[in-house]
Amino acid sequence: MVAVAVVNQKGGVGKTTVVLGLASAASARGLAVLVVDLDPQGNATTGLGVFEPGPGVDRVLAEERPGGLASEVEPSAWPSDLGPVPDLVASSPDLAVREPQLATDPLGAQDRLALALRGGAGIDHDLVLVDCPPSLGLLTVNALFAVDAVLLVTEPGAWAVDGVARMVQTIDRIRLRRPDGRPNLVGISVNRLGRTRDGRYWHEQLGEAYPGRCLPPVHLRAAVTEAAARSLPVHALGRRPGAAEAAAEFDALLDRLPLSDGLAGTPVEAVA
Ligand SMILES: Nc1ncnc2c1ncn2[C@@H]1O[C@H](COP(=O)(O)OP(=O)(O)O)[C@@H](O)[C@H]1O
Ligand SMILES: [Mg+2]
Repeated sequence: MVAVAVVNQKGGVGKTTVVLGLASAASARGLAVLVVDLDPQGNATTGLGVFEPGPGVDRVLAEERPGGLASEVEPSAWPSDLGPVPDLVASSPDLAVREPQLATDPLGAQDRLALALRGGAGIDHDLVLVDCPPSLGLLTVNALFAVDAVLLVTEPGAWAVDGVARMVQTIDRIRLRRPDGRPNLVGISVNRLGRTRDGRYWHEQLGEAYPGRCLPPVHLRAAVTEAAARSLPVHALGRRPGAAEAAAEFDALLDRLPLSDGLAGTPVEAVA
């Protein structure tokens, strides 16, 4: 099992889109994937076709429960003809109230998700994708304490470089506090790349600020929005214009994830 958090403290950059695209690619490849929806807005939960979820991740974080994640896993409602149907630990609106409650735990509540994921019998999926909320609060911190690696998503827009820098700093601070020195940075996923001069300019700026760190980009495409709106995997959109191209871009991104245990022989590099 390899766990990857998809992060950015900004909203609307494409975290959930990348999580769903990767889940689609992983499923099409025959992998068992689990999506943990840590955003109270629950977009990954509905994107996976689950409209009446169980208590999900909110119950997992309510108290210290080693191995507690396994008991909240439910199947998503994606079609089963693509590959193994992704599983989900759902979000719920209650999660928004959980975050300030976590902050009152005198012993610190940074590692509840880590305990729930790694304790007990654990999780036996090939890949766990954690969709993070748009903040650097305790929910995102819980994700960073729990995962092996981080995929930082950004748009190629103004202030993207600054936003990435803040997140990289946060990851580094967590690495210092974790005995295993994780999470590693898989890289920067540049999403919603349009064919405009502006997009090209900010994409170049990111490449210059983080040489060798930018992953193959995901372009702005109507097929990506359509997949989310219809709660379908982008790999199941068939001959829709742009669907095959979008699917291929998520396949390329999946290729860059550390899919073997222990991260051996993978392109993952430590954060500088
Ligand atoms: N590559 C893309 N092509 C087209 N639309 C996209 C793309 N990436 C994201 N979007 C759209 O942009 C909006 C924000 O994306 P989302 O994944 O919800 O961001 P976040 O999870 O970071 O808040 C959504 O409506 C989504 O469908
Ligand atoms: Mg989101």
